Amino acid sequence: MQVAMVDLEHHFANHPSLFTGLTMTLVSGHVYALTGPSGSGKSTLLGILAGWTTPSSGTVVHTGIEAIGWVFQNPHGVAARTALDHVALPLLAQGEKRSDAEKHASTYLARFNLTYAANRAFKELSGGEAQRLMLARAIAAAPSLLLVDEPTAQLDPRTAATVNQTLGAIADDGTIVVVATHDQRTREACTDVIDLGEYT
Ligand SMILES: Nc1ncnc2c1ncn2[C@@H]1O[C@H](COP(=O)(O)OP(=O)(O)O)[C@@H](O)[C@H]1O
Ligand SMILES: [Mg+2]
Repeated sequence: MQVAMVDLEHHFANHPSLFTGLTMTLVSGHVYALTGPSGSGKSTLLGILAGWTTPSSGTVVHTGIEAIGWVFQNPHGVAARTALDHVALPLLAQGEKRSDAEKHASTYLARFNLTYAANRAFKELSGGEAQRLMLARAIAAAPSLLLVDEPTAQLDPRTAATVNQTLGAIADDGTIVVVATHDQRTREACTDVIDLGEYT
């Protein structure tokens, strides 16, 4: 399972290149920090990796990638639904029985330090808790490739730290994870760095 980026270059019409000559192969079990200043093309590259955006030149070759998951900067959940329910949902969708799905969901909540919040409604969660829940839910859906866009951008440093602490464990199931970030601590929590600044 891998995602190969081959000589990628991208620019929007009448704008200079965001990045050029980007060649790199992303592999299972790694968490890649995608760094670069605001406006450097991080979100654009995530869209290219997902196949939503066609690069101006170069190719992305997916090998063995089945499902692609996303986690965005602003956590979106169902206000009255519990944290546990949010994570159980993708497991039910995969055909698990409710009792199994809830047990299984609890293990994901534990991995993201959310056991204490399992029965809280989404609207009662803090920003950091909600963002950890989005990561737990994304991982429960077992994507081959998980794209995470600025997970700590809306959080204060202390809350961001609780998210960063869980990033290392995110690729344990063999998922390829790419985290766009300009948070130094998030970058340190990842296993590898793709610095767009090196491809201008
Ligand atoms: N659909 C689009 N059309 C034109 N310009 C765009 C489009 N999407 C993004 N841009 C521009 O491309 C640049 C890179 O954007 P983005 O990938 O969002 O950067 P980052 O995520 O690193 O902040 C920005 O200057 C942005 O305004
Ligand atoms: Mg962005």
